[in-house]
Parts: sequence; structure tokens; C-alpha cells
Amino acid sequence: MAEDLKITPWGVSGNVQDKDYDKIANEFGAKIIDERLLKRIKDVTGDLHPFLLNGIFYAHRDLDLVLDDYGKGKPFYLYTGRGPSGEMHLGHILPFMFTKWLQDKFNAELIIQITDDEKYLFREIEDRDLKEFTHNNIIDILSLGFNPDKTHILIDSEHSGILYNNAIKVARNITASSVKAVFGLKDSDNIGKFFFTSIQAVPAFILSYLKNENIRCLIPYGIDQDPHFKLARDVLPKLGYYKPSAIISKFIPSLQGSGKMSSSDPNSVISLNDSRNTVRKKLMKYAFSGGRDTAEEQRKYGANPDIDFSFNIFRIMEDNQSKVSSIYESYKSGEMLSGEMKSIAAEKISEFLDILRSRREDVENNLDAYMFDEKKFN
Ligand code: TYM
Repeated sequence: MAEDLKITPWGVSGNVQDKDYDKIANEFGAKIIDERLLKRIKDVTGDLHPFLLNGIFYAHRDLDLVLDDYGKGKPFYLYTGRGPSGEMHLGHILPFMFTKWLQDKFNAELIIQITDDEKYLFREIEDRDLKEFTHNNIIDILSLGFNPDKTHILIDSEHSGILYNNAIKVARNITASSVKAVFGLKDSDNIGKFFFTSIQAVPAFILSYLKNENIRCLIPYGIDQDPHFKLARDVLPKLGYYKPSAIISKFIPSLQGSGKMSSSDPNSVISLNDSRNTVRKKLMKYAFSGGRDTAEEQRKYGANPDIDFSFNIFRIMEDNQSKVSSIYESYKSGEMLSGEMKSIAAEKISEFLDILRSRREDVENNLDAYMFDEKKFN
């Protein structure tokens, strides 16, 4: 990894760029998703999600084993999560969009862990704020349309009994020195931070524990979460469970086009609560453009869509990839100007956010159906 680049679940320092991602995966010990694996996925799912076609979900751990088992009629389950700390943005919802696709294609059970203890340990945040964010984040996530019969929201503070009783088994097998090495924690960090990774490991074996039989777990996440699961993969076999499998994504960059879209800079994010008008204004004002300085130059020389925030976001949110190709060509050739590209992307994002908003009320009225309940698995 580049010297100035440091990626942990609690912060990304340095300016991660597309060319760095393969190196990061290699360094973490994950594998790149190659053509062969894409074909294997397509053979089962029938088509490929734009996140796979465009290399957003680009790395994995033991995905082949999940597909092998699935091919033999052995189901697996999905697990992903969110650490509430504020409003969600497009980057946060990305793994959930992909997880929803996986759930539909594989008809899989899904555990969603809400780590409402995490940001309390890692940032200075008041308890009261977290309750509201937790509630709103859960509704945002569920508005994607997860199957209520197969989706189980596990909230750290509410399901602490089963989590704690299993987390201590994990914690017993992790030393302070490996936590320091994997996450870069220091002696001066609070001890809750050291323990936390054991809590995030539990949902990776919770169904095997409850059903008393080994079931593979596939975890979609952004690359910043990988250190947790790298550790969990060392520990779980010691407890008699499979190593968890993973499918791993790059980051949606900030609007300015670099690094990671991150709540720490409000002008760098599209929040799920942004109105149509705000989305449009943010793109017009801040979105990094691969276009030329003037309309005249743009007509003459064309744009570089590959580095253009608006084109890249459009590319991964549009199902019709031939439409994506034709917009690529007309932007690159100079026929389309930056403003038009930004309008197209703003429309695509707003369409998506409108759908989420239209479902919020129904989800809110039906929240209980999605809550994790041990009894459902006995
Ligand atoms: P959190 O809430 O920080 O982020 C939620 C998910 O979003 C991913 N992510 C991004 N993906 C693409 N582009 C971005 N700019 C971007 N920013 C965040 C994160 O990688 C994550 O997948 N500790 C976790 C919660 C958690 C979890 C899990 C996540 C608990 N169990 C299992 C994944 C899998 C957290 O605070 O995520």
C-alpha cells in the first residue's frame, strides 16, 4: 500500500485512488474477482449487477467455496452492517444495495448488524443522538426492499445477550497485540476498542450457532471493514465454524472525486435525505468533472468520463449498460457537456432517493417483522 495510505474501519487517511485498490486487497490478503469468478456468478444469477460489471465489488475471500456449496444445494446466509453515527450517504448504502441483489438472487437469509455501540467507543457521541440515528438508519436500509421473512436486524444494544455470550468466545482467541497490528490501535486507546471486533465477528457464525450446524456466511462490505473479518477468519475455525467468506467493494469517492465519500465533510457527500434540489446543486457545485474548462474546448476535445464523478455514479446506478455506453461515447466525444452529464446523474440519484422515501412509512409501520429473534431459527 502507498506509504501515506492507511485504511481501518475507523478512518481512511491518504488519498485512495483506483490504481491502489488491487494493492490494498493483496496486502489485506483478499483475492481479486476475475473473469472466471464473474462467469461462475452469472451462471447462477443469470445476470451481473452493475457493481460487478463495473468492478466496484472487486475482491473476495472464499467466494468460490460459497458457490461450490450453493451448487450442491447447501444454502448460505448473508451478513452485513451499519454503525449509526448520523445520516446515511450514498457510500453507506452501497453494500446494502448489493446485498439486496444477492438476497434476491440466492434467496438467502440475511443478518444486518447495527453496531449502535461502535461510534460511542470510537467517537465522542451522545447516547441520545444514537437512538434517533439508529432508528432512521434502519428505515433507510430497509427501504431498499429486503425480504421481511428472511431479513433480521440485530442491534448490539438490544440483542446484547446472545452477542456478548458469543463475543467472549471470540475475544478469548484474540490477543491485544494482534488487534494493535491489524487495526493500528495504541496502548492509549480505550479498552472497548480492543474488544469491539469480537462483537462484529459474532453475526458471521450466529446462524451456525443457533441451528447447531455449520452454514457458510457471505459478508458484503466496503474494504475498510476487511481488518475485522481478516481476524475473524483466524478465530472462527478455532470455535468449530467455517471461515466467513466476503465480497468486498471499493469506495464511492467524495464528490470532489478523491478518497472516500465520508460524513466528516458534508460537502463531499450525497446524503439519503437530500432533496432533488440539493442533489442537483451539490453535483453542479462540487462534483469533480472530467470535462474541459470551456464549452468550446469540450466540444472540440471531449471529456474524460473515467475520472468524472457524475459519469461514474451514473454508470453504477443504471441497470441498462448499453445506455451507459452511449452516454460514455457522447460525453467523451464532446457532444455532451459537463452540465448535461451532471443533470443526468442528478436525475438518476434522485430517482433512487425518491423510491427510498416513498417506502419509508410502510417500513416504519412494519419494523417488528424485521427484528432479529432467536426463536425464528430454532
Ligand atoms: P459503516 O456504518 O461505517 O459503513 C456501512 C457500510 O458502508 C461501507 N462504506 C462505504 N462503501 C463504499 N463507499 C463509501 N464511501 C463507503 N463508506 C462506508 C462500509 O464499508 C460498510 O460496509 N462497523 C461497521 C458496521 C458493521 C458491518 C458489519 C459492516 C457491523 N457488521 C458487517 C459490514 C459488514 C460500520 O461502522 O460501517
